[in-house]
Amino acid sequence: MMKTILIQGAMYGEIKYLVDFWKCEKTEINGYSFYKCAYNGINIIISLTKIGIIHSTIATMIGINEFKPDVIINQGTAGGHTRNIKVGDIIIGEKAVYLNNPRTPVKGFGEGSNALEWIPGNSGTFLINANTKLVNIAKNTEYDGTLLCGKLGSGDIYSREVDRIDLLHSQLGELSEDMETISVYKVCETFMVPVLGVRIISNNEITGNADVEEQFEFAQKTLQKYIIRLTQNISKDFFA
Ligand code: 5AD
Repeated sequence: MMKTILIQGAMYGEIKYLVDFWKCEKTEINGYSFYKCAYNGINIIISLTKIGIIHSTIATMIGINEFKPDVIINQGTAGGHTRNIKVGDIIIGEKAVYLNNPRTPVKGFGEGSNALEWIPGNSGTFLINANTKLVNIAKNTEYDGTLLCGKLGSGDIYSREVDRIDLLHSQLGELSEDMETISVYKVCETFMVPVLGVRIISNNEITGNADVEEQFEFAQKTLQKYIIRLTQNISKDFFA
């Protein structure tokens, strides 16, 4: 049986280079796009998940039911959450953690709101591991830049407040922030599909690098080139 790798991106710019490179054919299922191709003796499915936790959950479930993938790779851009992470660094998501579970203190009418007083809640704080073999293959995949390995933070949030980012990092230890990885890890854990998330840093508010279009597009394309090499390595080493 031919093995199947499903590769996800939230925005078309995050999959365009892959779809063109492998000359994939589009199908649509319940409003979610999938692009099919065969390469090196494996089936490749590229999935456009759309942005955010809810979309990526649905897209991952459809992808698993429909294509029965042997591996899922979630990839895309992210914001850096430490001082020493640079735009262009790639983070291999050994773990993913959910950032969307804050618990606020009680404040009455007129007392306002202060996100620096929020703490992680004690239900739904998911912390999930990637497949170790996939992590090792990713670590050994060539990249002309910095490859880091650690915890990817994700939630339906786009943080641009440095004090809040520092607080989140001190509470949860995430290296970056994106809006899909944790839901994909959770669905894959539930359905026992080996998963790996890989993120390229396109912005880092701590170091004063906001997302600017050119930088964002360059990051997306750079990551997809790495993902092609990663896919080649997975097809050689993961199923052996
Ligand atoms: N915070 C949250 N999501 C980010 N993304 C890139 N940078 C960030 C950030 N700093 C990714 C998300 C989503 C889109 C907004 O880009 O994963 O798909």
